[in-house]
Amino acid sequence: MTTIYSFQTAGRIIAGNDSLRELKNHLSILGDVKKAAIITTPFFETSSFIELIGEQLTGADISYEVLAEIQPEPTVGHIEDVFASLSGQSFDLLIGLGGGSALDAAKILSVMSTNDLPLRDLIGTDKVEKEGIPTILIPTTSGTGSEVTPNAIVTVPEAELKEGVVSRYLLPSLVILDPVLTLTLPPNITAATGMDAFTHSFESFISTKANPISDMFAMESMRLISRSIITACEEGSNLEARHDMLMGSAYGGMALTSAGTAAVHALAYPLGGKFHIPHGEANSMLLPHVTRVNLDAIQERMALIAKEIGVLTSREASSAEAAEALITQIEEWTKRLNIPQNLKVFGIKEEDVEDLATAASKVTRLLNNNPKELTIADMQGIYRKLLK
Ligand SMILES: NC(=O)c1ccc[n+]([C@@H]2O[C@H](COP(=O)([O-])OP(=O)(O)OC[C@H]3O[C@@H](n4cnc5c(N)ncnc54)[C@H](O)[C@@H]3O)[C@@H](O)[C@H]2O)c1
Ligand SMILES: [Fe+2]
Repeated sequence: MTTIYSFQTAGRIIAGNDSLRELKNHLSILGDVKKAAIITTPFFETSSFIELIGEQLTGADISYEVLAEIQPEPTVGHIEDVFASLSGQSFDLLIGLGGGSALDAAKILSVMSTNDLPLRDLIGTDKVEKEGIPTILIPTTSGTGSEVTPNAIVTVPEAELKEGVVSRYLLPSLVILDPVLTLTLPPNITAATGMDAFTHSFESFISTKANPISDMFAMESMRLISRSIITACEEGSNLEARHDMLMGSAYGGMALTSAGTAAVHALAYPLGGKFHIPHGEANSMLLPHVTRVNLDAIQERMALIAKEIGVLTSREASSAEAAEALITQIEEWTKRLNIPQNLKVFGIKEEDVEDLATAASKVTRLLNNNPKELTIADMQGIYRKLLK
């Protein structure tokens, strides 16, 4: 736990069922906007949500275009191509609608519009020199928390790794958290993105940078997600569960903005970059194993989580028992949510372990937040546990 800490988030957040209808009442905070681009994935191109956003923009005399071509887990080249197609059109507002992929794309396109630098030069921490054009972010998955984080992740194919653009200029002016938009999310994506969100909060809570503000968001996030993740996956039309998941993931984003994620995310990066394992599934598989390695450093904090989310069978449980009960709960979720427990399913073999651990060891931005220093041998051991 650190003693000096900071917290930053989006300019304004509107939340609640059907809150997308309220967009028109908040457009004035963006200043004099004339032309917007809605950045989304093909799935939403013909959706009623685009229509609803469009009507409200038109009502405020803002013209708009829809760019529904964002690919999942976008690469540097893909974002550069989309940027080229935007150029010369003088947009002064970007609206990201979708999962983390669409939101991250909108965030990056915003700062590329004002910083005369290629995307590769923006990768890293605080490389963005100028504020971007204003953004509105509207998440449709409950996972990344990207709508409230200063991070945007891009896939760098030649390095077989994902990298982050990290800058306060990526924080949006406005966020709309409307659970209705998440009702169509299929069970497998609900599961993977939900476990990603839980991992954000869990890692923020045990991070070396954990602090009273991040703890508050992390704990509430874990409480909401743990009570609703199974219902949201198995009964997708349950709006209450969808509400819990969306708020839980936004709170996770707020927690990680302040405290950072740690070794689970560091080890997940090469699994996504090289083997294209969905980010949330990679985190979900790694979480119990990384936690076992971290355990002696985090047992008391684990016990606090176990108590809050109600996984203890007896009030007198010791911290060690509580921590074990929490790990068992995480493993049970993974099984029930049909997330694979083994990297072999993704074509990974023993001979890949060395390269995976070497790649993970380079993600020092996140490993520095881990409560214990992990050696290359520790990391290889964790990957091997997932190859048995
Ligand atoms: N910026 C951050 O802070 C941050 C944090 C974690 C991860 N990420 C990044 O975010 C990306 C992953 O985002 P994600 O997990 O939200 O998935 P995603 O955005 O890649 O979406 C996954 C799929 O779900 C579809 N989809 C989205 N919403 C839907 C809905 N409501 N109904 C039906 N289908 C829907 C999308 O069209 C897409 O095909 C990765 O690139 C990851 O690295 C960013
Ligand atoms: Fe994540």
